[in-house]
Amino acid sequence: MNRAEFKSPKVIKGELTLPGDKSISHRAVLFSALAKGESSIQNLSRAEDLQSSLSCVSALGVEYGLKNDIYTINSPGIKAFRRPGHELYAGNSGTTARLLAGILAILPFETTITGDESLSRRPMKRVMQPLSLFGTRFEAAEGDRLPLKIIPAIKLNPVRYELSVASAQIKSAVLLAGLGLEEKSQVIEKIQSRNHTERMLGLQFAELNGIRFINSSSEYLPEPTSYFIPGDISTAAFFVVAALLIPGSELLIKNVTLNPTRTGYITHLKKMGADISFENQKTSANEPYGDILVRSSDLKNVPITPELIPNLIDEIPILAVAGYFAEGDFEVRGAEELRVKESDRIAALIHNFTLAGVEMEEFKDGFKLQRGTVRANPIFESFHDHRIAMAFAIYSLLLADGGKIDNFDCVKISNPEFINHLSLITG
Ligand code: S3P
Repeated sequence: MNRAEFKSPKVIKGELTLPGDKSISHRAVLFSALAKGESSIQNLSRAEDLQSSLSCVSALGVEYGLKNDIYTINSPGIKAFRRPGHELYAGNSGTTARLLAGILAILPFETTITGDESLSRRPMKRVMQPLSLFGTRFEAAEGDRLPLKIIPAIKLNPVRYELSVASAQIKSAVLLAGLGLEEKSQVIEKIQSRNHTERMLGLQFAELNGIRFINSSSEYLPEPTSYFIPGDISTAAFFVVAALLIPGSELLIKNVTLNPTRTGYITHLKKMGADISFENQKTSANEPYGDILVRSSDLKNVPITPELIPNLIDEIPILAVAGYFAEGDFEVRGAEELRVKESDRIAALIHNFTLAGVEMEEFKDGFKLQRGTVRANPIFESFHDHRIAMAFAIYSLLLADGGKIDNFDCVKISNPEFINHLSLITG
């Protein structure tokens, strides 16, 4: 077990440039694998999760190398993928497992996806069910868990699928499987989740009364290309909240994703009174990005209601930390999806805040917390969940005597350089 300790800095100041966005990086790797020929990816995420995506595509016959921060991906293309000699290990990465399931569903040979202990507890039926409409068969442990065996369809059928969970992973799995047929498949989305797959593949969509109809077919199979991955806005969230909460701070985070389906937490923090602005806005691979400038601010809590959840789901742990230091009670509802992330994040947040002495109320789909007197020097548990570990690292920075987090090395799942980034802006 490893334990990290965090103590209160005087101020957060300076500039950060972050490694590439994890969600966009996964897609750049998978789409480069689909395309026959050589693609390049600049500023790929250094998250351990990306190594999972890379090793899975390499088992299908894709070659890759890294030189001067640019990955080169050489692929035989989806039509010439080879049957892997072993199971495809997705590690801790839900995005790898679920998006890959969409690709494997249209291959002519059998494959199996496995994962680590945490991923093997997470639900897979959510992708098996829509993907089986294509004609592919699935066998999963306990009907819903990894290992997941994928048995080719005798004949693939196009699919029209209305999402019942607002999930970019399910949406992407179906859209990727749709690339396997000339006939059009369609995903119907009532509540929009992150839209990197649609944007990066250039998928055609229509919008009617707030409902999105997204089409996919072999016409959209990607060609080899050069990707530049903007910095990770979800990784940025921890430093943004630290700068907001520590008086006298000013932080510039350069070249991060500004896709509106990802900046929900910034919109919400602004509603709470945060001084955050976007500067220097640009576009790459159809994805907007730019700099964010953050100055410390007095925050007032505004409840997080169900319709906001899909666009800030990954940032709820750190928003709870911001909420603890804001005026009024922090409350989030409609977030039952938090229970099936890398950990049960509702339970993990309740455990750690309660341990510090914070008054917590738990709901099936959320929680409420009230600011109170906090115990000196708490020792938090990461639950081997990177976003829980980083949220309580920032919380510890704000406590008079600091705090500690056990099993902190799980931060490598999304940001192996977290401690280094923090030291760059705390001096
Ligand atoms: C992701 C989608 C979200 C998010 C995850 C990354 C993606 O999951 O929580 O960290 O890259 O598509 P869900 O689609 O399950 O909500």
